[in-house]
Amino acid sequence: MSKVTAATLLKFKQEGKKFTSLTAYDASFAAAFDEEGVDALLVGDSLGMVLQGHDDTLPVTVDEIVYHTRCVRRGIKRALLIADMPFMSYATPEQGMENAAKLMQAGANMVKLEGGEWMLETVKKLTERGIPVCAHIGLTPQFVNVFGGFKVQGRDEDNAKRILNEAIAFEKAGAQLIVLECIPAKLAKDITVAVQIPVIGIGAGKDTDGQILVMHDVLGISSGYIPRFSKNYLLQTGEIRSAIRAYIEEVQQGTFPSEEHIFN
Ligand code: KIV
Ligand code: NA
Repeated sequence: MSKVTAATLLKFKQEGKKFTSLTAYDASFAAAFDEEGVDALLVGDSLGMVLQGHDDTLPVTVDEIVYHTRCVRRGIKRALLIADMPFMSYATPEQGMENAAKLMQAGANMVKLEGGEWMLETVKKLTERGIPVCAHIGLTPQFVNVFGGFKVQGRDEDNAKRILNEAIAFEKAGAQLIVLECIPAKLAKDITVAVQIPVIGIGAGKDTDGQILVMHDVLGISSGYIPRFSKNYLLQTGEIRSAIRAYIEEVQQGTFPSEEHIFN
C-alpha cells in the first residue's frame, strides 16, 4: 500500500477519480479513517471549535496543532497528513516559514493556509523550501470577524471572480492543493476546471476533485448545529467504520454532496 502524496491526489484528478478527506485530531480516529481508505486527513484548526468548545478557530495555537499532528501521525499508514496553520501564525512570510517548519517536523506532509493575494509570497517561499502548501479560499473561517459571520462567499460576480483568480494565482505560486469552502457549486466547478492542481470542496458542490468534512459532523457528535453542507453518516449506518465507508462510497459515486448540501 503506497502512501498518498500530493502527486497521488494530482493523479486522481487527472484520472477523474474522486477522493475523500476528513479532519482527524487523534491517533485512534486517524487509524480508523486511514484503514477505511480516506485519502487525506486534516488536523484542522476546527479543533478550536469541536475539541475545545470555542465559537471560532481564532484561539488555536501552533503548539496545539503540533500536538494533534503528532497524535494523528502515529495513526496513519497511508493517508496524506495536512496540518492547518492557525490564525496569525503566517501574518508575514517569515512567521509562516518558522511555524510551518514546526508542523512539518511534527509529522505533517503539507500545511494549509487561509487567505488571498497577500499570501502569495508566503506560498511561494514555503514551496521553494520544501513545504507543500494547500491554499484555503472562499469562506475562510479565520476571517469570521471581517465577514461578520460564517457566510457563503462568492455569491456576487466580483467576489466570484476574485476567488477564481486567487485559485489560479496560488497554483502559479506553487500551491499543490486548494480547499474551497462554502461557495456556489458553479463557481467551485469553474475553479476546478481552471486549475491543474486538485481541488477539495466543503460546501462547494459535487464537481470538485475531492470532498472534505469535519469528522464530528460525519459522526453526528458536533454540539449545537450541523452545517447544512455536512452529513451525519452515523445516522444511516449506526457504526463508525461503516459510516466512513458510506461517506467514501457516496463521494466516489457522486451522490454526496446532493442538492440539499449545495449552495447555488
Ligand atoms: O479546520 C478545518 O476543519 C478545515 C476544514 C473544514 C477544511 O479547515
Ligand atoms: Na481550518
